[in-house]
Amino acid sequence: MTARHLVLVGLMGVGKTTVGRLCATRLGRSFVDTDELVVAAGGKAVSEIFEQDGEDAFRGLERAAVAEACAAPDPSVIACGGGAVLDPDNRTALRETGFVVWLDAPAEALADRLGRDDSRPLLAGGDRTATLTRLADGRAAAYDAAADVRIETEGRPAADVADVVLEVYAP
Ligand code: S3P
Repeated sequence: MTARHLVLVGLMGVGKTTVGRLCATRLGRSFVDTDELVVAAGGKAVSEIFEQDGEDAFRGLERAAVAEACAAPDPSVIACGGGAVLDPDNRTALRETGFVVWLDAPAEALADRLGRDDSRPLLAGGDRTATLTRLADGRAAAYDAAADVRIETEGRPAADVADVVLEVYAP
């Protein structure tokens, strides 16, 4: 049997891209970020897609990006945009082709990590910790349904999180 992709899901700022790149290097695999596929397909930044075309358009591009990443014949490391697992088709595709790891951290820690980064349209304006808390509450069931395993990342450097991910990963 071909090895499964290693898939990272979780909220914005939890470190999916950083940890994913580290895991990909250690596994000698390619790294795919669904947001990057969306930007390539949309021809503009995520924030511009949200602003000019709306969130539904973004989610459509994201669904295509997840399908493309999952369809890759060689096992890779896939970092999913934070909202990708809300779509049941995405969850099915990810679970069928991958081992799914939910990286988790409290909203306060995520808000700290994101600092003043303004590339996330869902966090524009307002209190970031409050928004992240609301997203975490609303999405917990979807992350849980998508994931094979959940890893708490608070206070752990990315390299340590990558160690834990690779320990639990069952290809
Ligand atoms: C989103 C997360 C972002 C990006 C978009 C929407 C979300 O990706 O896909 O801004 O709905 O949580 P990251 O989780 O990589 O920041």
